[in-house]
Amino acid sequence: MNVLLANDHGAVELKLRILAWLLEKGHKVTNLGVDTEDRVDYPDIADKAVAEFQKGGYDFGILFCGTGIGISIAANRHKGIRCALVHDAFTALMAKKHNNANFLAFGGRVTYRESPESLIDVFMGAEFQGERHATRIEKLDRN
Ligand code: RB5
Repeated sequence: MNVLLANDHGAVELKLRILAWLLEKGHKVTNLGVDTEDRVDYPDIADKAVAEFQKGGYDFGILFCGTGIGISIAANRHKGIRCALVHDAFTALMAKKHNNANFLAFGGRVTYRESPESLIDVFMGAEFQGERHATRIEKLDRN
């Protein structure tokens, strides 16, 4: 798959870990950074990632900040973006099946009971169910 990654200073280590893991699995990955812990503002990172994603060609993106909360909120301000802050295999599965999320979000300062890698695997292996869920997704962008 073609995956876009972006993060603030709160999740450098986790982003680099996921980047290495995705590359090892043979995926194409674009890393928009940041790769140092110099402070940046997560809304700027989200805007940059969304602008890049909207150029097309990506299967999905993964955003990271300290909690995953700020950067997912920022991404979801953009029309057409459905960024899911997932925390276990069930929410990772539903993010694809019901919400057809085009971004996942994780927190670099969060302790996950199931590894982010396993959640990303679940998401990548799932399929959007369409039908009533497609109708609901269309409604997200009506305003
Ligand atoms: C940065 O300190 C932190 O606020 C940010 O990474 C994120 O957790 C915000 O939601």
